[in-house]
Amino acid sequence: MASSDSLSSPFQTAFDFVSVESVQELALNKPNDIPKRYIRSEEERPSSTPLSSLLTVPVIDVEKLLLPSDNHERRKEMGILSKACIEWGFFQIVNHGIPHSLVDHMRGVTNEFFSLSLEEKKKYAPQAGDSQGYGNMFVVDEDQKLDWGDSIALALMPKKLVKLSLWPTTPSDYRNTLQSYTTEVERVAQMILSLFAENLQLKNDYFKEKFGEDPMVAVRMNLYPPCPRPDLVLGLSPHSDGAAITLLLQDEHIEGLQVRKNNKWVPIQPIPYALVVNIGDLIEVMTNGIYKSIEHRAVTNKERTRLSIAMFYFPGLDDEVAPASNLVDEEHPSLYGKFKQKEYMHYYTNTKLNGKKSLANFSKICE
Ligand code: OGA
Ligand code: NI
Repeated sequence: MASSDSLSSPFQTAFDFVSVESVQELALNKPNDIPKRYIRSEEERPSSTPLSSLLTVPVIDVEKLLLPSDNHERRKEMGILSKACIEWGFFQIVNHGIPHSLVDHMRGVTNEFFSLSLEEKKKYAPQAGDSQGYGNMFVVDEDQKLDWGDSIALALMPKKLVKLSLWPTTPSDYRNTLQSYTTEVERVAQMILSLFAENLQLKNDYFKEKFGEDPMVAVRMNLYPPCPRPDLVLGLSPHSDGAAITLLLQDEHIEGLQVRKNNKWVPIQPIPYALVVNIGDLIEVMTNGIYKSIEHRAVTNKERTRLSIAMFYFPGLDDEVAPASNLVDEEHPSLYGKFKQKEYMHYYTNTKLNGKKSLANFSKICE
């Protein structure tokens, strides 16, 4: 692990990511045979992993949570939220207050970016030893299986991590829109964290304080082109997110995100203008495992391109991440050591997506 003092950005990589072809370009040729590197082993394929379409991820109405604290509806909704955090690690929120026009705009500019020529998009490819930009992240070795999707990942906050040269300038309102959307999502993320604190009987501003003056925010915009053999490939490998929480804008119409529950994969149905919220590895640590980060993946389909925009919310780079002392006692001993946010993020960036292994393996190094 790099010593935390020498680490100027957790997005740095100790190597250059293996460069891989754009899946968008690959899909344009409608290949009859999928290149081998995308074909998953039997155990990983969507066609052979059990699906559960009976269960649905809880839906939380934020408007109800804004009612006075003694309101019955609010109390009931807080209970649903608590259960969602403990039993699912995933939920959708509706009525979150982000203007629909801004959501449409955000999707619009992202779609426009992906529809640029490959040559144009490549101007935003990551620099050597960095993981921000357009391309395929997390490809760390030559024979690793590849995901059927392209993405662009950018740090949004704090300012010192922002590489503006990698922010698309086409369409011309891309940057402004991303900025406005970030402000809105940050507001919602903070609100959700204060509700978590309330449900956990911590001080309401517990997480706000722990996240410090300069929380970190990053975005990954994912594009999953149609695939002639969706049964054999994955759009995004199973992983838990390295953030504290993730707020994901799914494609309006096309299903693809699935979460692992009781060893089955549960699809998350798109709800117009809802955001999918999930617990990341850092909240798992801070809640001493009461809330857990959950494995999820994206699958593809034959007909349509799917778009998603994931915003990741973190404590500040140098903030310490550790179980809240109020959640640790004799009966519930501390399950994790303490570390700086940027140490974990750097570790996460430098390994391939691999189920829930990141946190487990990192914890071993920390011991
Ligand atoms: C992610 C993610 C899922 C999706 O970007 O971390 O889980 O549906 N995306 O694109
Ligand atoms: Ni994710």
